Amino acid sequence: MTNIHDRLLIIDFGSQVTQLIARRLRELNVYCEIHPYQNVTDAFLAEFAPKAVILSGGPASVIDEGSPRPPSTVFDLNVPILGICYGQQVMMEVLGGKVESGHGTAEFGRAFVTPEAEKLALLDGWFEDDKEQVWMSHGDHVSKIAPGFEVYGTSPNAPFAIIADTSRNFFAVQFHPEVHHTPNGAKLYENFVKMAGFKGDWTMGAYREEAIAKIREQVGDAKVICGLSGGVDSSVAAVLIHEAIGDQLTCVFVNNGLLRKGEAEEVITMFRDNYNMPFIYADERELFLGELDGQSDPETKRKIIGKLFIDVFQKHAAEVGGAKFLAQGTLYPDVIESVSFSGGPSVTIKSHHNVGGLPEKMGLKLVEPLRELFKDEVRELGRELGLPTGFIGRHPFPGPGLAIRCPGEITRPKLEILREADAVYIDQIRKHGLYDDIWQAFVAILPVKTVGVMGDGRTYDFACALRAVTSVDGMTADYFPFSHEFLGETATRIINEVPGINRVTYDITSKPPGTIEWE
Ligand code: XMP
Repeated sequence: MTNIHDRLLIIDFGSQVTQLIARRLRELNVYCEIHPYQNVTDAFLAEFAPKAVILSGGPASVIDEGSPRPPSTVFDLNVPILGICYGQQVMMEVLGGKVESGHGTAEFGRAFVTPEAEKLALLDGWFEDDKEQVWMSHGDHVSKIAPGFEVYGTSPNAPFAIIADTSRNFFAVQFHPEVHHTPNGAKLYENFVKMAGFKGDWTMGAYREEAIAKIREQVGDAKVICGLSGGVDSSVAAVLIHEAIGDQLTCVFVNNGLLRKGEAEEVITMFRDNYNMPFIYADERELFLGELDGQSDPETKRKIIGKLFIDVFQKHAAEVGGAKFLAQGTLYPDVIESVSFSGGPSVTIKSHHNVGGLPEKMGLKLVEPLRELFKDEVRELGRELGLPTGFIGRHPFPGPGLAIRCPGEITRPKLEILREADAVYIDQIRKHGLYDDIWQAFVAILPVKTVGVMGDGRTYDFACALRAVTSVDGMTADYFPFSHEFLGETATRIINEVPGINRVTYDITSKPPGTIEWE
């Protein structure tokens, strides 16, 4: 299919904040993709046909031998280019300038840039107060700019903070306009895409139409199966695909005994009532809980659950007969994270569950219509598709479910207590109008019993931990600053309403160093 929208290419040199560049551009309704520099070949550039290019920051030093470079042909595309931090340095190095290493001129953190006399369209709306706060994070710096470039902004440690060759529409900045610590940074991106001639027409309505056309083109008249987790991503993917191919799609929803209170009923009702699509409900509680019996190691639990999902899914998918495609709710951050900058494997913190392994085993091809979207964009698409608002706004729920909120051995009574406590906690959060301010909230039941006193009697029951975090993408997180009144009231309610718990704690660990889930 030909590209309907103009596309912006972000060449990634491994900065921690490259994804934020994409976020800023998507907010301007500009379609962009991030690709690691290693993959950007001449053939790729010809196929991608970008209308503008951004060179990201990165941890390397251009002075080092073998440091990352974009293909030199990128500078012959005759499209506007913006280099950021390492992107600026590599641009100078390739185009005939010079870069030197730190020696007292490294800058990390807040800095102020002041303008040079001449005006630059990239800087429309900048310098209304003489100087702009920016976020710097560089060891090396440009010491001589390439022929054709002029200086448009300087900071005390970066005499070439903003440079441009206006005859070629090449721009480069030493700081990071994509981060919040550069408060006026979004304006810079807005000016850049305006100059490049983007229409800003990449809306969710347009995305929906194009995604439907793409799914039809990919699938033809073949059958597709979709594993529903009950979460937002797989549900939105299912509804979108159903809109595209109707009853060629069958959804399989597995109850593994590790769902929250009322969750299975909620998902079944939502799909049965709102969408008339082939739907298999697989009640596999006995199987999962049986296999998990006696297991307490977090990774072993995760592996067991992952394997069982594949087995069960495979068994039920066979009922569909002759499916050629497997639909997944893979999101853009998953796609980017899976391409490691160094090309080497990154450290496994937790083996995340998905239905990986299944496609090869069953000879299935993947349909992933959300691959280009961020989480909040998926929610927007869900609204566009008419999914109930309450469902779309649900907090993320991990594939291994309550198993990873039950450190130590998983037993049915413990899961039951956990479900009840979690339901009270979420009810409290909703009643106080806090649900939408929190990325994710849940209870973990701890593998420890403590002594308490209720009425005149001694109790010896489980302790639990409340968790609530704010986050943008789940990669980093802060604990939510509940009031003491809220925490006190919630602890009282849980202890009074949930037999089996006599102590409540609040987890105030951020991520890093903690993770969001307990296992
Ligand atoms: P952690 O605990 O790694 O979690 O900080 C980050 C986010 O990922 C979710 N999570 C998972 N989601 N399968 C999933 O689909 C998994 O195996 C898994 N483990 C963690 C977690 O709930 C949080 O939103």
